Amino acid sequence: MTRVLKIGGSILTDKRRDAAARPEEIRRVAEEIASSPEDLVLVHGAGSFGHIPARRYGLPESFSPEGLLQTHKSVARLNDLVVEALSRAGASPMPVHPLSCTLLKDGRIEALAVKPLREMVRDGLLPVLHGDVAMDASRKAGIVSGDQLVPYIARALGADVVAVGTDVDGVLVSGSPIAEMTRADLASLEGALGGSTGVDVTGGMKGKLLELLDLADDGIGSVIFNASREGNISRALMGEHLGTRVRAI
Ligand SMILES: Nc1ncnc2c1ncn2[C@@H]1O[C@H](COP(=O)(O)OP(=O)(O)OP(=O)(O)O)[C@@H](O)[C@H]1O
Ligand SMILES: [Mg+2]
Repeated sequence: MTRVLKIGGSILTDKRRDAAARPEEIRRVAEEIASSPEDLVLVHGAGSFGHIPARRYGLPESFSPEGLLQTHKSVARLNDLVVEALSRAGASPMPVHPLSCTLLKDGRIEALAVKPLREMVRDGLLPVLHGDVAMDASRKAGIVSGDQLVPYIARALGADVVAVGTDVDGVLVSGSPIAEMTRADLASLEGALGGSTGVDVTGGMKGKLLELLDLADDGIGSVIFNASREGNISRALMGEHLGTRVRAI
């Protein structure tokens, strides 16, 4: 059994302020994950460590070595905080930086080295990836969101549980989360779907949902749940259907 969990940058950081970590939330999240760390790949969002420098440097449209380096260094710092917290909570995390193992083409993942991830999981380690900048074969460079990493890895590893935690109770329609959806529901939801209340260069809830619908098309379902509510991460890791279930058909 393999599980892929994403924790949104909206939980770990304050997305309205540059590089603003939430140490208490990072610790709580790490403790919940450390209670069930086996057969798991963790992806975390970039939050304000990524979206704000990316916007400042005009990524992904404009290419600058300085913009790439500073954005990467910033998200790697958040990754370091998450990895530290997981270690302290008793897990065996390993940082994996997408910049070093991913190639994009037209903004989509063309290649990602999954073999080391599989090997880490097999050896009892917990790989921890994150939203990052990455080289792009058809333009100079781009952004790979945590939301895009999740389905790619889930497909490659044949994940049984795919859970995406964010700061709302799921896909909200008139303020309430819908229990489940398929691609067939997308057209009727389009009006309700927006970006993010914080700074988000990768499409907020709509971007997330489109990634997970693609994954569902390939037969792998997932859930979008509220990771800010205590206990929800543990429940999602057990495969419970919290929040909104994006159903495979
Ligand atoms: N219909 C909707 N249902 C739920 N959330 C929505 C909807 N429309 C827009 N949103 C926004 O999407 C946000 C979640 O996406 P966002 O990208 O900000 O968080 P994240 O993915 O957890 O963070 P990161 O991208 O840093 O990992 C919510 O906080 C909300 O403001
Ligand atoms: Mg996002």
